[in-house]
Amino acid sequence: MPATCFGVGTLQIAAAVRPGNTSVRAVGRSLRAGTNCSSCRAEIRAIIESESLPEVQASCG
Ligand code: FES
Repeated sequence: MPATCFGVGTLQIAAAVRPGNTSVRAVGRSLRAGTNCSSCRAEIRAIIESESLPEVQASCG
């Protein structure tokens, strides 16, 4: 589980990623993930990047 401190899972983080909410800080504001010990921030960033990728590709195409 990515954000063990608050019991936030990958699916919850992926669901929180949307336009205007694509930073680790924004996800932290929504879910508190990454706002305690910070050890999950790299994982949150990876989830954000994988969730954001199709959108980036679509806007480039
Ligand atoms: S595991 Fe994410 S803030 Fe601690």
